[in-house]
Amino acid sequence: MRLSVSIFSVSGASFGMKAVFFLLFHLLLLSLSEAQSPGFVSIDCGGTEQYVDDIGLEWTPDKQFPFGKTALISVPNEDRKQYTTVRYFPADNRKYCYTLNVTTRTRYLLRATFLYGNFDMSNVYPSFDISIGPTPWSTIVISDASTIESEESVLLAASPTISVCLSNATTGQPFISTLELRQFNGSLYYTVFESHFFLSLSARINFGAESNDSVRYPDDPFDRIWESDSVKKANYLVDIAPGTKMISTSKPIYVGHNEIPPQKVMQTAVVGTNGSLTYRLNLGGFPGNGWAASYFAEIEDLSPNETRKFKLFIPGMPEISKATVDVQENAQGSYRLYEPFYTNITLPFVFSFEFKKTNDSSKGPILNALEIYNYVEIKDGSQDASLLASFASHYPLADWAQEGGDPCQPASWSWVQCSQDSEPRILMINLSGKNLTGNIPLELTKLTNLVDLRLDGNELTGTIPDFSGCLNLEHIHLENNQLTGAVPSSLVDAPSLKELYLQNNMLSGSIPVGLLNKNIIFEYSGNVNLHGASSDKSHLIIIIVCSVFGVLLFIAGFCAFRFCAARNKRKNFHKDNHTNARPTQKLRSFFSEIATESAYKFQLAEIEDATGKFKQKIGSGGFGIVYYGKLKDGKEIAVKVLTNESFQGYREFSNEVSLLSRIHHRNLVTFLGYSQQDGKNILVYEFMHNGTLKDHLHGPASRKRSLNWIKRLEIAEDAAKGIEYLHTGCSPTIIHRDLKSSNILLDEHMRAKVSDFGLSKPVSDGSHVSSIVRGTVGYLDPEYYISQQFTEKSDIYSFGVILLELISGQEPISNENFGANCRNIVQWAKTYIDSGNIKAIIDPSLDNDYNEQSVWKIAEKATMCVKPQGIQRPPMSEVLKDIQEAIAIEQGTEQLGELAIDIFSKHSIGSSVNVDPIDLSLPGRNNSSPEMFMQPGLR
Ligand SMILES: *[C@@H]1O[C@H](CO)[C@@H](O)[C@H](O)[C@H]1NC(C)=O
Ligand SMILES: *[C@@H]1O[C@H](CO)[C@@H](O)[C@H](O)[C@H]1NC(C)=O
Ligand SMILES: *[C@@H]1O[C@H](CO)[C@@H](O)[C@H](O)[C@H]1NC(C)=O
Ligand SMILES: *[C@@H]1O[C@H](CO)[C@@H](O)[C@H](O)[C@H]1NC(C)=O
Ligand SMILES: *[C@@H]1O[C@H](CO)[C@@H](O)[C@H](O)[C@H]1NC(C)=O
Ligand SMILES: *[C@@H]1O[C@H](CO)[C@@H](O)[C@H](O)[C@H]1NC(C)=O
Repeated sequence: MRLSVSIFSVSGASFGMKAVFFLLFHLLLLSLSEAQSPGFVSIDCGGTEQYVDDIGLEWTPDKQFPFGKTALISVPNEDRKQYTTVRYFPADNRKYCYTLNVTTRTRYLLRATFLYGNFDMSNVYPSFDISIGPTPWSTIVISDASTIESEESVLLAASPTISVCLSNATTGQPFISTLELRQFNGSLYYTVFESHFFLSLSARINFGAESNDSVRYPDDPFDRIWESDSVKKANYLVDIAPGTKMISTSKPIYVGHNEIPPQKVMQTAVVGTNGSLTYRLNLGGFPGNGWAASYFAEIEDLSPNETRKFKLFIPGMPEISKATVDVQENAQGSYRLYEPFYTNITLPFVFSFEFKKTNDSSKGPILNALEIYNYVEIKDGSQDASLLASFASHYPLADWAQEGGDPCQPASWSWVQCSQDSEPRILMINLSGKNLTGNIPLELTKLTNLVDLRLDGNELTGTIPDFSGCLNLEHIHLENNQLTGAVPSSLVDAPSLKELYLQNNMLSGSIPVGLLNKNIIFEYSGNVNLHGASSDKSHLIIIIVCSVFGVLLFIAGFCAFRFCAARNKRKNFHKDNHTNARPTQKLRSFFSEIATESAYKFQLAEIEDATGKFKQKIGSGGFGIVYYGKLKDGKEIAVKVLTNESFQGYREFSNEVSLLSRIHHRNLVTFLGYSQQDGKNILVYEFMHNGTLKDHLHGPASRKRSLNWIKRLEIAEDAAKGIEYLHTGCSPTIIHRDLKSSNILLDEHMRAKVSDFGLSKPVSDGSHVSSIVRGTVGYLDPEYYISQQFTEKSDIYSFGVILLELISGQEPISNENFGANCRNIVQWAKTYIDSGNIKAIIDPSLDNDYNEQSVWKIAEKATMCVKPQGIQRPPMSEVLKDIQEAIAIEQGTEQLGELAIDIFSKHSIGSSVNVDPIDLSLPGRNNSSPEMFMQPGLR
C-alpha cells in the first residue's frame, strides 16, 4: 500500500542485498508511519532519500525525475528536511511536470510549496507559473529568500493521474520544494461545479490560536494547514473590532465525521465582547466566485438565560445577511460544531465582513475558523491529449515521453506543435533521431489535424500505416528507418500531402501509380526492393484484358472497386474509434459506482441486521417505505428504502446524500447516513419515538390523549424554525415541497422536527420532469398548478394548512366534515374565520383549554399563509414570530406596548427558566453525555 502511493517506483533496487535492505527499510517505514493516512503522497523535491518526519509524514525523494537539477539550501529557523533541497529547471519555454497517481472520482487536497533559499546563488527572486494539467493554477512570485510560498487546491480527480507543471519563467529559474497530495473521503468540499471547477485556497484561518504555529497533521487527519490568526493578523487580517477577545477551552469538541476542522482548531475562537467581530482580509484569486465556510462551536459555558445569536454582514451584499446564527441551536448543543457555508459566493479581493449580535442576544458573536476558496475553471486541454499520452506510453524509458501534463497547455511538449485554439490540436510531431524502435504507433494515424510528421532517423520497423484519416497531413518524414512492406496506396488519397520522404528504408513492392503522378515532393531512393515504375507486367495484362472486354467496362469496374475499398477503410476506422470509446465509457460508469461521496455509508448487512430484514414498517410515502431499526449500539433508526424510480442514477443519489448530510438543525430530523448496495438506495435517519403529528391529530393516538393547545403551538414553533432554516439558513435555499402533518415528527419529548426534506429532485424520466408531482393533495400550493414551480411560498401554503389542522383537528381533505360543497379545509376554515366565528373551527377536543386570542393569532396567520398568490403570503420568519407571540399570549406573559423582539427574548427566557423535566432535556442541551455523541459516523 505504502509502496504503491509513492510516485516514483523503486524499481531500480530489485537485486540481492539491496532488495532485502529496501524491503526491510519499507517494513520499518510502514510500522513507523502507521498513523499516516492512506492516500497521502509527500514528495521532497530535490531530496535523496525516503524518510518519516517529526510529525509522521512519509517523504519520498523525486530522484527518478528526469528533468531539472537539484540544489541544497539553508534558511535560518527552518530545519525541516524537505526544505533543505529544491529541484529547479531551466528558464526556457518548456514546462516541467510531476505526475501523481490518484484514484479517479476522488477528492484530493493538492499542495505545492516553494522555498527559494537562494538556491542559485544569484539572489534573483524567481517568478513563474504553475498549472494543474492544462489549467493555470497560480503565478508563483518569490519575494523573500526565506519565506515559504504555498499553493493549495481541492479537486476531484477526473483521470488516474494529476500533473503539476512549472512553466513560463519570467524571472529567475522555476523551482519547487514539495508536492503533497492528501485524499479526502467525505463530502465537505463537494460542489455541483466540481467536474468543471477546482477550488483554490485563499484563506484557512484558525481564530483565537494560542500561538503562531499553524495546525496540521496529525491534528488534522487530512493535513490541511490551519493558519494561526495571530500570524494572519500581521500579514493581512486587519481592521479588527475593539472588544475582540480570544477564548479557548480544553474540553472536547464534537466535530462529527466529515472533513470538518480538527478539534484543536475548534477549541479556540474569538468573541466580540462589544457585540461585533469585524475583519478585513485580502483574498488571493478573487474577485470571483468561490466557496466559503465559517466554523462555529460554543466553547464558553453559557448560563441558561444567556444566548449567542448573530448575523453575518458583508458590505454591499445584503442578501448574505439573512440567516441568523444561533450556534447552540444549530449545532444542537455547546462544544459541538456548526458549519454554515456558501457553495457559490461572489467575493471581492479586499473582503470585509462582520458578525454582529442580534438585539435579543445577550452575548456577542463567536468565530472559531474560516475557509475560503476560489473557483478555478478547469481547462479541457488538447483534444488529442489522450491519443498522445497513449502514443507516448509506448516509450516508457524515453525522457521526451515523460514530459507529462497536457501536450499543448500551458506550454507544449518539446516535440509537438499545437494550434492556438482553446482546445488545441496537434499540428506537428517531431521525433527525428530519437532512437524510436518497433512499429509506427497507430495513434498517430488518428491525429486528424496533424500537418507535419517527422519520424526520420529512427529504428522504426514494420509497415507504413494508413494515414488517410489525417486529412491535413502535408509533410511526412519517414526516411532513414527500417520500414518494410509496400508503400500504401492510401497515400495516393491523402488530400493535403505535399512532401513524402521514404528514402533509406527496406520498403518493397511497387509504388502506386497515383503517388508518382501526384504533384508532390516524393523521395524513395535507398529502398533496395522498391520498384519505382508502376507500369509493370500485371498492369499491362489488365490493360490487354480490358481492351478485350471494353474500356468502359474496365473503368466502371475499377471505380466500383476503389469506392468499396475506400468505404471499407472508412468503416474500419470508425469501428476502431468505437471500440476505443466503449471501454472508457465503461470505466467511467465503473468509477462513478465507487465514488466516495457524502456522509456515513452503512453496509446493507448492517441495515438488514438493524431492521431484522426490514420487518417493521413504520411509514411510507415521500420516495419510499420507512422501517424501524436498532443499531448494534442500541441507537434506534428510521430506515427509508427509496423506490427504484426515485433517482436516475448513482450520482444523482449521492449528490442528494451529500446535500442532506450538510443540513443540520435541531428542528430537522437528523440524517445519519446512507447505503447503496444491491440496487437499493437507503437513507438512515434518527428514529422519532412519537411518530407523526398527523397521528396525534387524526390517528388513534389522538383519541387516547389529544394534544393541548400550548403543545400544538410549540410543535408549530419547532416546525416553523426547521422550515425557516431550510429557507434562509441553507445555501442554496432548500424548498421542502411536501410539507404536511405526516412529515412533522415528534421525538420522545414531543418536540417536533421536520422530515423528508432535501430530496429535492422530482422523479424525472430522461430530460423531462414527469407528471408525478411532489406534494400532497390538500397541502399543494394552488399556484403550482399554474406555474409548475415550487417556491418558498409553496411551503408557506402547506404550513398554513398545517396550522389550520392544529386549530381544528380536521384533516385537510374530507368528504363529510366540511359540509356540502366543500371538501377542503382552507375553504371551510376561511369562511368561518372571515365571519369572525373562530369557535366554530376550534378542535372540540381542546376542551376550551386555550386563550382565544392566541388561537385568533394563529388563525389569522394561517389565512395569510393560504392566500392564493405566493406574493401575498408572509415569509417563514414572520409566521414564526406570530407563533411565538401566540405562545406568549397563552403563557400570559405578553406585555403590551413592548417590541415584538422583546417578547421573544422574554419568551425564551421564560421557557427555559420554568422548565418542566421534559424541557430540560431539549435537544441542544441534552447532549452532554458522551454516548449521545456517538453518531454512526464516529464508529
Ligand atoms: C502509477 O501508475 C502507473 C500505471 O498504473 C504505474 O505503472 C506506476 O507504477 C504507478 N506509480 C507509482 C509510484 O505507484
Ligand atoms: C507568462 O507570464 C507572463 C508574466 O507573468 C504573462 O504575462 C504571460 O501571459 C505568461 N504566458 C503564458 C503563456 O502563460
Ligand atoms: C475518513 O478519513 C478519516 C481520517 O483519515 C478517518 O478517520 C475516517 O475513518 C475515514 N472515513 C471513512 C469512511 O473512510
Ligand atoms: C456561481 O454563481 C454565478 C452567478 O451568481 C454563476 O455565474 C457561476 O456560474 C456560478 N458557479 C461558479 C463555479 O462560478
Ligand atoms: C442570568 O442569570 C444569572 C443567575 O443565574 C444572573 O446573575 C444574570 O444576571 C442573568 N443574566 C441575564 C442577562 O439575565
Ligand atoms: C540513441 O542510441 C545511441 C546508442 O544506443 C545513443 O548513443 C544515443 O545517444 C541515443 N540517442 C538518443 C537521442 O537517445
